[in-house]
Amino acid sequence: MTGITTLIIDGILAFLVIRSIYRLYFHPLSKFPGPKLAAVSSAYEFYYNVIKRGTFIWELERLHEVYGPIIRITPREIHIKDSNYYDEIYASSLRRREKDAVVVDKFDLDGSGFSAISPEVHRQRRAPLDRFFSKAAVSKIQDSIQSRLEKFCDHLQRAYNSHKVVSLDAGFSALTSDIIHQYAFGFNSGNLDQEDFNEHVRDGINALFMQSHIAFFFPIIPTIMNALPLSLLEKLNPYVYALVSQKKDLHRRSAEALAGKTSNGSVIENIAGPHMPEHMRTPDRLAAEGLALIIGGTETTARALGLGTYHLIRNENIMAKLREELRSVMPTPESKPTWNQLEQLPYLSAVVLEILRISTGIASRSPRIAPTETLIYKNFFIPPGTPVSETNYFVLTDPAIFPDPHVFDPERWMRATAKGERLDRYLVNFSKGSRICVGMNLVYAELYLIISTLVRRFDLELYETTDKHIGFARDFGTPYPVEGNFNVRVMVTRIIRE
Ligand code: HEM
Repeated sequence: MTGITTLIIDGILAFLVIRSIYRLYFHPLSKFPGPKLAAVSSAYEFYYNVIKRGTFIWELERLHEVYGPIIRITPREIHIKDSNYYDEIYASSLRRREKDAVVVDKFDLDGSGFSAISPEVHRQRRAPLDRFFSKAAVSKIQDSIQSRLEKFCDHLQRAYNSHKVVSLDAGFSALTSDIIHQYAFGFNSGNLDQEDFNEHVRDGINALFMQSHIAFFFPIIPTIMNALPLSLLEKLNPYVYALVSQKKDLHRRSAEALAGKTSNGSVIENIAGPHMPEHMRTPDRLAAEGLALIIGGTETTARALGLGTYHLIRNENIMAKLREELRSVMPTPESKPTWNQLEQLPYLSAVVLEILRISTGIASRSPRIAPTETLIYKNFFIPPGTPVSETNYFVLTDPAIFPDPHVFDPERWMRATAKGERLDRYLVNFSKGSRICVGMNLVYAELYLIISTLVRRFDLELYETTDKHIGFARDFGTPYPVEGNFNVRVMVTRIIRE
């Protein structure tokens, strides 16, 4: 080793030692409970999320058992496990909250509302979207949802005729993907038009999720991926190829909308219009906004539908009560009640809420930063500027709020209503406050319309699908099972005629 190399290595070691001492004893978060290793280095999170593949969430659960409800989980981040404190972190626009740039960067959606850091930039990007996702706006696209749902039911009918196994996970992804593509970009993505749905429909989104932990530590990765030729990516990794192809396709469509070459009334066409500020009318920004809608609009809802169907099939009593109630607005299996009519049904509403609760949605924590406010938790004063997070799953499965949290029990919602309790306060799937999910009305419309139609029309039987195929074992943005992807397969055993 030359003298200069030794000098560099000694320099690095000295830097690491001094930085560790600072982080442990002099950093503003040094008094917070938590393991010393996590306070010293983000290698702790790296180990669990990258090496041990998406399992930091379970380590967090363990750490809370050891250290209590508030812990320092990285050198700069505080995590709280207290369902009653959630609203303080994920607060309304009356209290300034920012997102954490380090966290949003991993999704490579720069320019979208999702990726906005400051409330001012977020408001500017979010306001034009909100009017497309209000309850009234979503009510108007029920026909579009229904026509795709009919295609989905045709698949089930054909599977019944030919005794074929149906991959419901692929089917629901195809359905939600076709719905959101049509609304956001105004074209038919054609997943439902393919035999067996399009089994590759989730490849791009999966790539984004599966690489999210690595991209968090090495944010250069998405940039490199975007720069590589598609032909090379196709050989290297079919999932990354699918993601980058999808990005390029949406970019081309965004550029066409900007150039006035489309006339499809889509969300993107609208926000590409001349009424928008000039700096927001770029193909890069529109493609990022559109991809955020597609990503948000596909997998989370599809997973909720898959899990919901799984639990309904396994709970004959619940299925029977639901069917009975549905007859009031669906006298025949082909009846098409409106979303509004369905929302009036108490049992179905309880089923929808329970499906959402048990499906979690987003597995990863998404910190908020209060840049000027000192958050106070018990006797801890969290310095302004600190990323603070809760994990939605811990709230949705908090046994103090949802007893027997892993049991699918829709009636818990009805019992709470009868007692005047507001359980929905803790239904945090969509986050809360100023950064709450923009697509939640669309989710509700889809869940009500799709679940009611499936339950009223078909008898399904699980095929080689157990808790192992659907259980939440790994956090890759959304919950993943121990191996492979979330997977629900069924046989259609009866077409209900009356
Ligand atoms: C069950 C289904 C869904 C769940 C559980 C869900 C969950 C969430 C959560 C937790 C956030 C906050 C993310 C953060 O804090 O970083 C979010 C934001 C977002 N979601 Fe959803 N989502 C769902 C469906 C949808 C749908 C259908 C769309 C499409 C319209 C969508 C589009 C978005 C967008 C664009 C954002 C960013 C909002 C902003 O920051 O202004 N999501 N979603």
